[in-house]
Amino acid sequence: MDLTTYRDKFEQLETPFYYYDTQLFKQTLEEANRCAAEIPSSMVHFAIKANANSTLLQYVKNAGMGADCVSGGEIQRCIDAGIPANKIMFAGVGKTDKEIRLGIENDILCFNVESLPEIDIINDLAKEMHKKARVAVRINPNIDAHTHKFITTGLEENKFGISMEDMIAAIHHVQQADCLEYYGLHFHIGSQILNFNSFKMLSCCINKLQKKLDAAGIKTMSINVGGGLGIDYDHPQEHDMPDFKAYFDTFKRHLELRPGQTLHFELGRALCAQCGALITRTVLVKKSGTKQFAIVDAGFTDLIRPALYQAHHKIINLSGTGKRQKYDVVGPICESSDVFDKDIHLSTVQRGDLIVILSAGAYGFVMASQYNCRHLPEEYGTENLK
Ligand code: LLP
Repeated sequence: MDLTTYRDKFEQLETPFYYYDTQLFKQTLEEANRCAAEIPSSMVHFAIKANANSTLLQYVKNAGMGADCVSGGEIQRCIDAGIPANKIMFAGVGKTDKEIRLGIENDILCFNVESLPEIDIINDLAKEMHKKARVAVRINPNIDAHTHKFITTGLEENKFGISMEDMIAAIHHVQQADCLEYYGLHFHIGSQILNFNSFKMLSCCINKLQKKLDAAGIKTMSINVGGGLGIDYDHPQEHDMPDFKAYFDTFKRHLELRPGQTLHFELGRALCAQCGALITRTVLVKKSGTKQFAIVDAGFTDLIRPALYQAHHKIINLSGTGKRQKYDVVGPICESSDVFDKDIHLSTVQRGDLIVILSAGAYGFVMASQYNCRHLPEEYGTENLK
């Protein structure tokens, strides 16, 4: 991401705001599509939860990608952006009737169901609407993704999915429902996964489950392995894209698909994290004992990841040129957890300096809040700044 070119433009804008390098986003989508194409009948769906910005969704549409949604709001955003409904999947443990109706009305590709009661609810609503709905059953594969516990989803203790033991019963339940069509299996083991062995284990687990399906005479149209591919938060400028080739190769090598089966991926972070940065301005520098606090005008209301997951985002002083000094970079919110990072080295920070928090394109703006009656940050794409 080239930030220095835009420094003068950034100087004129009210902070804090998100900046998206849309050229990098476009290239990242293209690279993911190019590597995924090594697997015939595969399709990448952008996980809208990571970033629902309408300008970015235009790029998703133009790249021909599908979407993975977890709410009616996200489905509507995709439809408004022109993403075809037959490329939209809808997941979530607690879909409301209104959200399910929206999906049925638009004839989305499929509902990823997470429990037996949900199967009956979707069937009843489809019947009421004189429609049919496609359903994939989300299986909890009990695989450790070796990531932060708040973003691990595929363990037995997590609330997601149906257990492997109940898989056949759940599929039969779908098949017996008169307004549902059984479409396939869905998995997602967690997020920010850097250990590819977890994806290999997921593939092996799916192979075993597929043997069970064969034995039970169940024909499965699609396998959805979810998302979760991690990015390099420590070296965002050196690694502005994850190793998509190695990621898709892992599935190509280990997953045994049946003839005609489609393979779906739901990537969020890997596609957009490195394309976004949070730009904030230094309100003042405060010295206290041996500590120096660079107090900036962004807080955890704008980017909650460090406070919520102890996540590290690389931070740079875009305005500074002086010698490097040690700072805690903190926001103005009245909570001690409002810290972006501690004891990091930055070029000497002065009041007014622009501080950039990198790798913030995923789970940044979408998780922003208005706590303390703050405004939501603005979002700019490269095209708005030209
Ligand atoms: N599919 C399902 C069913 C998911 O639950 C998620 C993310 C994804 C796909 C996309 O995962 P990704 O490729 O982005 O890892 N707010 C947290 C991340 C939460 C992820 C929730 N589910 C963070 O900031 O790290």
